[in-house]
Amino acid sequence: MDMMEFLRSRRTYRRFAQRAVPHEILTEAVDAARMASCGANRQTVRYIVVESADAVATVQPLVHWAAYLPPEQGTPKADELPTAFIAVLQDDNLPGASDVDVGLALGSLTAAAWAHGVGSCIMGAIDRPALKELLALPEGVRLCYMVALGYPTHESHLVEMQDGSVKYYLDADRNYCVPKRGMDEVLLKTL
Ligand SMILES: Cc1cc2nc3c(=O)[nH]c(=O)nc-3n(C[C@H](O)[C@H](O)[C@H](O)COP(=O)(O)O)c2cc1C
Repeated sequence: MDMMEFLRSRRTYRRFAQRAVPHEILTEAVDAARMASCGANRQTVRYIVVESADAVATVQPLVHWAAYLPPEQGTPKADELPTAFIAVLQDDNLPGASDVDVGLALGSLTAAAWAHGVGSCIMGAIDRPALKELLALPEGVRLCYMVALGYPTHESHLVEMQDGSVKYYLDADRNYCVPKRGMDEVLLKTL
């Protein structure tokens, strides 16, 4: 696939087939994140793969979906749930923890998964205290984001922004429509 087409289709996915993502794909996604650029090459980001059916089921109620949509539209139903999660963590025992580094790691992780057709949702609306306990994080290791993963059962399309609204919505086929600002708005000038 052409790189721009890959990036256009590497969207957030929120409904999934009930088919496990192979372990090797999940660890490859972590490997891709591991190689990401980071400030001063400090490499403070850590990961936990959640793939056993029991562990995945325990995480499900601790993540919150699609704030712009009513739950009946945006929250996956029992037969649409993600089949794996990867917790993205910062090791604060090391110097130089950086949100930028976490962002770059998330970009590589989700792209590596999408290269195998595995869709993802980066999740910041999460119950951190409960997940911290569940994941049994080592001392000084902080939970930043959960990434939900699975084989998507819907499409997601970039659409032109209407009236300045950044809110994604579902079309008649329950596919996501994600407004993005146009090039004329984001590219301020070329010098
Ligand atoms: C830092 C971050 C946190 C996010 N947290 C959530 C979340 O808690 N729940 C959710 O359903 N989506 C979450 N998302 C997904 C965004 O809603 C999504 O990226 C945005 O609507 C744009 O869609 P796109 O990823 O397809 O471009 C998050 C995305 C990012 C980058």
